[in-house]
Amino acid sequence: MDDESRIADLDAVPADSTLLFTVRDGFDEREAVLTRTDDGDAVAYENYCQHWTDVRLDKGSGAARRDGELVCGKHGALFAVDTGTCTHGPCEGATLQSVEVTVDGDGVYLTDDDYEFVQTGSAMEYDLSSDRSLGF
Ligand code: FES
Repeated sequence: MDDESRIADLDAVPADSTLLFTVRDGFDEREAVLTRTDDGDAVAYENYCQHWTDVRLDKGSGAARRDGELVCGKHGALFAVDTGTCTHGPCEGATLQSVEVTVDGDGVYLTDDDYEFVQTGSAMEYDLSSDRSLGF
């Protein structure tokens, strides 16, 4: 594991919400979210609902979690934390795009060859009135 792929301290990854970070996928920057599994490990997914894929689960202050599932605030879809699969809602059966991460010691590292780590938080600017990104 190298420092450039270190996303965050494991202690900083919430079990009741998400930690937002930004990755690069080729020329595109995309948002992803980290959260804890019930066994204390960490998992990550791209930060986009599978119902309307321009809707972010975490708008910058953490996505809601309820009974081990991530909640999309737009229409209430529920995604199982362990698998990313929508268990209830308008995209039931669809799965969040997984981002491979690895816990090593006290850190969580991006270990997915499809992405490069950019930063914690969002690298994008949003028009908060429309929920859509500006440009990029
Ligand atoms: S946009 Fe997420 S449930 Fe509709």
